[in-house]
Parts: sequence; structure tokens; C-alpha cells
Amino acid sequence: MKSKNFDINTILSETGSSLLTIIYKSLLKREKQIILECGVNKGYSTSMFSYYSEKSDSYCFSIDINDCKDVVTSERWTFIHNDDSKVLEIINDYPVLQDQGIDILFIDSFHRADHVEKVLYGWYPYLNKDSLIFIDDIDGRNYRKGKEKDSYYNELNWEEINRFTRDFSENNSSDTILTQYFGKTGLAKIVKVSEKGSLPNRIVNRERSLLLKLITLFNRNLKNLFRSR
Ligand SMILES: C[S@@+](CC[C@H](N)C(=O)[O-])C[C@H]1O[C@@H](n2cnc3c(N)ncnc32)[C@H](O)[C@@H]1O
Repeated sequence: MKSKNFDINTILSETGSSLLTIIYKSLLKREKQIILECGVNKGYSTSMFSYYSEKSDSYCFSIDINDCKDVVTSERWTFIHNDDSKVLEIINDYPVLQDQGIDILFIDSFHRADHVEKVLYGWYPYLNKDSLIFIDDIDGRNYRKGKEKDSYYNELNWEEINRFTRDFSENNSSDTILTQYFGKTGLAKIVKVSEKGSLPNRIVNRERSLLLKLITLFNRNLKNLFRSR
């Protein structure tokens, strides 16, 4: 594996300081895996996945909306220049993703909960039994007001992605095991238990209209008023 922008030994030696190490360690006992990576950019995670693929008789497909085909050179890697939510189009071009199924899905493309939802629901039916799903960017704390990376929109998006991973897992509790990692920008790991082809349940949340919110607020304040007397 040749990486244009990164040294693989440096990536792998960043034990403890990089969330990518958590992914790498989860892969170590696995062989002959089909990996689907969503979001390439300069190829930090792509370098790790394609390096691991060479070591474990696995194969990595990476999707990006921008052209990132030259970030890595490996006989175990294919770059797909497309939108990662265009699942049927990609499956049509790369039927191996359907025929063999996907063992590792890494979502790190457009950092909005509605996009992550679209990508996860789209690819879920192609995930093999005991496959691993990694969703990057679930910890918005570093973007809070006054923090080093202060960004209102990133804080909001990261928190919504976090919420989505919990809601998704709760609504699919018999088929998924969720672990969340905090620190840096955060990472969610979901183990998918069922066979390839199973469909995930949709998320059902309690509807909270503005009127209901106001009534609840009023009732709470009223109760607190009587409690404090
Ligand atoms: C955070 S970067 C990926 C970082 C990469 N995983 C790494 O570890 O270096 C996000 C990438 O997602 C790509 N992207 C954004 N929206 C996308 C979409 N709908 N489909 C595919 N790629 C997308 C962007 O072009 C960008 O390169």
C-alpha cells in the first residue's frame, strides 16, 4: 500500500490518541472482509483500511463525491467516485458489494444526521451477519461555546449524529449492539447481528409539538412551585 499523504507507521503508532486505532484494533481478528468506506478526502482512514486489507486477504471500496482516486495505491483498494447515498447505482456498478455483502461499513462523509441516516438505511440490507458499522463524529463537546474549535453548527450536527446512533440502536435493539467512544470528535461502533438482507426498523420518536412542549413546561413549573412551598 502506498499512501500519497500519510505514513502508515505513523497512523498505526498513534495508539490511544486516534479514534482510528479503535477501528484498527476491532479488525485485527478478522480476515477476508469486504470494507465499504464512505468519505475519503486525503486518505487518512483509507490508508489504514487498504493496509489492513493487504494483511488480511480483505478488500476495501471507498466512496467520495470528489475525485480521491490517487490518495492510495493498492491492489486491495478501489475508489468509487459517487455520492455514498446512491446505493442502487453503486451496487449496479459494483455487484460484489451485494453478492459477497459488506463486513465493515465506515461512515465519515457528509456530517449531518439526515445524511448519515440515509447512508446507513441504504447500505444496511447489504451488511453481512456480525458486520461492524463505524460512524465518525458523534462527540460535539469540542465545538461548544468558548472551546478551541467553537462552532455552533458543528456542535449541533455532531450532537444530532450522536442522538441518531442511539435512536437507531434503540429501535433495532434485537439486531444491534452500540458502543460510543468520546474524546476528539467521537466514534460510534455498531455490531449488526442478523443475516444479510434484513431491514432495519424505522426510528419512532415521541412527537413533541410546540403546544405539547409549552403545556409540559407549564405543568412542570406548576408542580415545582407547589413542591417548593
Ligand atoms: C471528513 S472527510 C473524510 C475523511 C476521511 N475518512 C479520513 O479519515 O481522512 C469527508 C469526505 O466526505 C466527502 N463527501 C461529502 N459528502 C459526500 C457524499 N454525499 N458522498 C460521498 N462523499 C461525500 C467529502 O468530499 C470529503 O472528502
